Formats: sequence, structure tokens, C-alpha cells
Amino acid sequence: MARFTLPRDLYHGKGALEQLKTLKGKRAIICVGGGSMKRFGFLDRAKQYLQEAGMEVEVFEGIESDPSVETVMKGAEVMQKFQPDWIVAIGGGSPIDAAKAMWIKYEYPDCTFEDMCKVFGIPELRKKAHFCAISSTSGTATEVTAFSIITDYAKGTKYPIADFEITPDIAIVDPELAETMPKKLVAHTGMDAITHAIEAYVSTAHSDYADALAIHAIEMIQADLIPSYNEDMAARDRMHNAQCLAGMAFSNALLGIVHSMAHKTGAAFDDFGAHIIHGAANAMYLPKVIAFNAKDPEAKKRYGVIADYMHLGGANDDEKVQLLIKELRRMNDELNIPHCIKNYGADSYPTGQGFVPEEVFLERLPGIAERAIGDACTGSNPRQPSQEEMEKLLKCCYYDLDVDF
Ligand SMILES: NC(=O)c1ccc[n+]([C@@H]2O[C@H](COP(=O)([O-])OP(=O)(O)OC[C@H]3O[C@@H](n4cnc5c(N)ncnc54)[C@H](O)[C@@H]3O)[C@@H](O)[C@H]2O)c1
Ligand SMILES: [Zn+2]
Repeated sequence: MARFTLPRDLYHGKGALEQLKTLKGKRAIICVGGGSMKRFGFLDRAKQYLQEAGMEVEVFEGIESDPSVETVMKGAEVMQKFQPDWIVAIGGGSPIDAAKAMWIKYEYPDCTFEDMCKVFGIPELRKKAHFCAISSTSGTATEVTAFSIITDYAKGTKYPIADFEITPDIAIVDPELAETMPKKLVAHTGMDAITHAIEAYVSTAHSDYADALAIHAIEMIQADLIPSYNEDMAARDRMHNAQCLAGMAFSNALLGIVHSMAHKTGAAFDDFGAHIIHGAANAMYLPKVIAFNAKDPEAKKRYGVIADYMHLGGANDDEKVQLLIKELRRMNDELNIPHCIKNYGADSYPTGQGFVPEEVFLERLPGIAERAIGDACTGSNPRQPSQEEMEKLLKCCYYDLDVDF
């Protein structure tokens, strides 16, 4: 038996934001990030639509990128005072994820962050509020997923909260919101989306339902991501749907160790002045993980199917895997994303010596590898890495070495 869960309603296409007018309730809290939604007028519009729906509206602003446990607790306190019956999260993955975790704490004030991180262990929500998610980036698809990623900065690591309870009730996928994304954000979030689709397709929890969504997402992202990056707005609009399809797939089929590694390296070198941005980390690690996973015969076959849908050619599955790796690296080049941590600059662009010093990386490697193995995404990866293999894999991701083990 397996379960497949999505939001009850999904509104898509230009103008979908206006559907906020149809929500029924007394009080809505809007959770939003650092300013882009305000600057481009989407926050005011959302507020106005909710007021037109007859609701009292409060705004919780300033949710940072890669949101912290502290922000979650602060937001939950505001909710406790305001008692919303709708939580409306608008923006990229960060504010939506933070709002999901606030929702848990609001419904269960005694729930600690550790409690939230117990995979598929969240008690029943919706006793106090329903949740509407409106995405403004084309990558995380958190508007349709059962996940929320919160960073514990004291530990320098990201924790996924995973439970169908936090799958939003309503998702609004309005491409107008994605049109204001700067190029770099398009690149990173787009490679995050293709990683979701590929990891979901080869996951041990894959299903006929998720496969269809993942494959179509892969085809769309291959066609539309680079044009979207180069400011083709029709392609940008299609990418907003494509990333959402990828999200529907991985929310149900789960992910793999590309994400485990991205979660555990993202904030691991913050003391050197930068983050390894989630999408960029995935983009760098994905080709390495494909080579590693392809040692599993079933995964190899499934990568071959992906390569076929991408029209990459290849006479057999070994060749197809190599061509898939080559195609993903080509996409990284077009999107100005480096191939390895060593060349990852503090601004995320390729550079000779990146912001993570070699000796620091090597010193922290065993701990990072151990935490990556323990990440919630590792269980559904088609090949289970040992500590030694995970360390070797991460080294390949640092130095851009071929994976031959
Ligand atoms: N919940 C999930 O299923 C899931 C999946 C993958 C990643 N994540 C998490 O999501 C977070 C990353 O989210 P993200 O990549 O969407 O970025 P983000 O939400 O962190 O936003 C990045 C920056 O882009 C700006 N921005 C957002 N939308 C914009 C727009 N339309 N125009 C201009 N600027 C805009 C924001 O203000 C912010 O400064 C990470 O914490 C990651 O771990 C979650
Ligand atoms: Zn991701």
C-alpha cells in the first residue's frame, strides 16, 4: 500500500492569485519574506483580495532565506496572538517552509522543533487553520509538497520536516509572480526542480502516479529552463508549472542523496561567509550521484529512460547514463553554475578557488558525510552509501572528480 497526497485545490495560470478572494474565514495571516513580494506589489494585492473575502489580515514579514528555528518560533507566537483560520504563505521556498513549521507550532504549542523533525510524525493539523501556499520561485514546489526545510544555525545543518499533514490545502501557481525572478534565482531554482524530478523518478518509493509527473517535468525543464534563464517569459511561465509537477512527484515518491548532501553542506561553511545555495548544491552534486546510483541496475535502467525522454541518444544504458550526466553539466555551464564546491564562489558563480577552503572541507568531511547519511532523504535513494562511500562522493563533489565506485 502506498499513499499519494496533493493539495485539495490548485489554481494555476496568470491571475490565479485573485482566487484568494474565494477563501472563507475570519482572520488570515500572510507570511512573507524579505521584500521582493512587497516591492513588486504582490503582497498588497494578496492582502486586498483577502480583505475582499471579508477577512481581517495580519502580515508576518521578514522571513529570511533558509529560515531558522528562531523565526519559526517567532511566527508561531504571532499566530498564537492573532488566531488566524487561514495561513497564507507567499514567496519562495523559504517563507512558505517557515510558515508550514509555524503552523505546526501554532496548532500544537507544546511541540518542539525536535518533535517536528520526526519523519511522518506530525499530529493532525487543521484544527485551528488551513494553509494556502503561493509560490514566487520555480523550484522548491513547496506549495504542493509535504516538506518544510528549516535550518538549525547552532548546528549548521538543515532539517527536513516531512508529513502529509503539512501538504497545503490550496496551492496557487501564478506565473506572474515568477516573472520578476533575477536570472541567478531562475538558474538555481530550476536546477533544484530537475533534481526533484530525477531523484523522484529513481527513488525506491517511485510509483506510476509520480513517474508520469516526474517525466513530464523533466521534459519541460530541459526545454524551458535555459530559455527562461535568458528572459523568455513564455518559457518562464511554463517553468512555473514544470517545477510544480516535479514537486507533486517528489512529495509522494521522495528524494535521494543529492538532497541529503545539499541539506548537510548548505550551511556547513557559513563561518566562511556564504551559503552553498540549495539549487546550486543540487546542480553540482546531481551528476556525481547519478554516476554513483547507476551501479544499481534498476536505477541505471531508469536513468536510461530519462535520457530517452530527453532525446539524448545512446546505444545502451551505460551510454545513456553518461549522456545524461553530460547534458546536466551542459545545463550548469549555460546557467553559470560551477561543477564543484572547490570552484563555488561566495557569489555562487564559478571561480578558481571558491569560498570553502580545502583543508576546512576535509576536516569537516566525516561529520558532514555522517549527517548526510542520516538525512531523511537518504532512505529512498536507490543505493545506500556507506560512510566511506559518502565521504568519497562528497570529495568528488569538492574536486569535480569522476565517480568510479
Ligand atoms: N519544502 C520543500 O519541499 C523544499 C524543496 C526544496 C527546497 N526547499 C527549501 O527552500 C529554500 C529555498 O527556496 P527558494 O529557492 O524558493 O528561495 P528563497 O525563498 O530562499 O528566496 C531566495 C531569494 O529570492 C527572492 N525572491 C523570491 N521570489 C522572487 C521573485 N519572484 N522575484 C524576485 N525575487 C524573489 C527572495 O526575496 C529571496 O531573497 C531552502 O531553504 C530550501 O532548503 C524546500
Ligand atoms: Zn530541492
